[in-house]
Amino acid sequence: MSDLDSTSTLRKALAAYATGVAVVTARAPDTRPVAMTVNSFTTVSLQPPLVLWSAHRGVGPFDAFQAATHYAVHVLHAGQEATALHFARDVEDKFTGVAYVDGNHGLPLLDDFSARFLCQVEQRLNGGDHLMLLGRILEMEHRPAEPLIFHDGRFRPV
Ligand SMILES: Cc1cc2nc3c(=O)[nH]c(=O)nc-3n(C[C@H](O)[C@H](O)[C@H](O)COP(=O)(O)O)c2cc1C
Repeated sequence: MSDLDSTSTLRKALAAYATGVAVVTARAPDTRPVAMTVNSFTTVSLQPPLVLWSAHRGVGPFDAFQAATHYAVHVLHAGQEATALHFARDVEDKFTGVAYVDGNHGLPLLDDFSARFLCQVEQRLNGGDHLMLLGRILEMEHRPAEPLIFHDGRFRPV
């Protein structure tokens, strides 16, 4: 058995689990749009329709996501590596030069995705150094496409 106290060994083992990639957006209490790339997004329940993702407590937009009553999840398709990297960057305003529209609940909506879910926060759950945000899907749009895959710290072709 490997050493669980070694963060890098643990991170490497957890990275064996291949995931999709999504960009989550929300409005900060001061109305600024906030966004971040995540691979922690997962489905939870069909009835009621629930999803989950988790935000590291150290990320810049953490306070905004913690306070948000709604969020939008944009599931990325193959070829959107640049979008994933853009919204993972440590910059003050990730929306400078990025086209978006205001959706219901004031959610900043991107126009390129394979699936988009507008969610109401149902529960905020303590997840150690992350906060888990359980959301109920209120609206969705699906444009079938090949997925963007993240595995072992890298984007992969399908
Ligand atoms: C593929 C990928 C998946 C990520 N998944 C998550 C995640 O699930 N939760 C999280 O807190 N950060 C995740 N991150 C890191 C955040 O996107 C990044 O730390 C954040 O956007 C930085 O925001 P800040 O610069 O405003 O602090 C991921 C990054 C990448 C590239």
